[in-house]
Amino acid sequence: MTMQPEDQPTSESKSNQTRILGGKSVSTAIRQELAVEVASLVESGGRRPKLVAVLVGDDTASATYVASKARGCQEVGMDGETLRLPADIDGGELEATIRRLNDDDGVDGILVQLPLPKHIDEDRILQLIDPDKDVDGFHPVNVGRLWSGRDALAPATPTGVIELLQRRDIEIRGRHAVIVGRSNIVGKPMAALLLQNHATVTICHSRTADLAAECSRADILIAAVGVPALLGPEHVKDGAVVIDVGMNRVDDTATLERLYPGNEKRRNGFEKRGFSLVGDVDYTRVKTKASAITPVPGGVGLLTVTMVIANTLRASKLRQHRA
Ligand code: GUN
Repeated sequence: MTMQPEDQPTSESKSNQTRILGGKSVSTAIRQELAVEVASLVESGGRRPKLVAVLVGDDTASATYVASKARGCQEVGMDGETLRLPADIDGGELEATIRRLNDDDGVDGILVQLPLPKHIDEDRILQLIDPDKDVDGFHPVNVGRLWSGRDALAPATPTGVIELLQRRDIEIRGRHAVIVGRSNIVGKPMAALLLQNHATVTICHSRTADLAAECSRADILIAAVGVPALLGPEHVKDGAVVIDVGMNRVDDTATLERLYPGNEKRRNGFEKRGFSLVGDVDYTRVKTKASAITPVPGGVGLLTVTMVIANTLRASKLRQHRA
């Protein structure tokens, strides 16, 4: 097995045998492959794929995500555009915009950044997107395609988790995967993708009777609940692979010091930004028990945007009958 650059011990990843599964090298490799595929599509007379990301309102975090998706497309040679709409846009006007993008043959991927302002019916908007352009994989048609094992545009984050496991040589087939979280964006599609890859799958959630007992049966434990450091060593079997999809802001120093005692890099970052990003897993205490673990930040999160880009190319190839 090759040593990836982010496997090198850093102040946060010193442990004897635990592999630190950083997302950067996998993300870079996928983007390089996508750039080659785009170039060959265009060279062979195909149309250059195009993503339009729709941003309603001016939430800073959403604007950053959307910009990285459009820019990521451009970096691999595709067209990426952000359509910025005012927060007080009328629902009907947003619907008309989606219909126009559906009808535009030059647009291959449509993505509406969530959450939408409260006065807009999110479900209605997501169901309006042409399923063949739905690069988020949120449309019920794509959910159905995914669960019935058909070719589907699948949500980016769980697709990224599968890529990370496969490309870091972690066997999925025949292993017991436990997912904590049942969201439509991560938990449920993650279960479908793991099943497709022949894992035995358990989904846990807030009403699960004995979370620690369920989790400690996992060969592959996937945390996607949005609760900082919810999963500790008591949730992890010795030698399990731990994938942390959580991305939570900690904005008090006492919590940060409890989760990352004496970690100067963390404390410096906190002082600069006023918060620190932590996952759903108590990384410091779990990493010595796991055989492999993804860090936060620097793990799964780096793959999400990359998989949206990959979905845009896939959608385009399917639409151009070049898949
Ligand atoms: N908001 C948070 N996650 C996502 C995502 O994966 N896609 C979109 N469109 N919005 C989001």
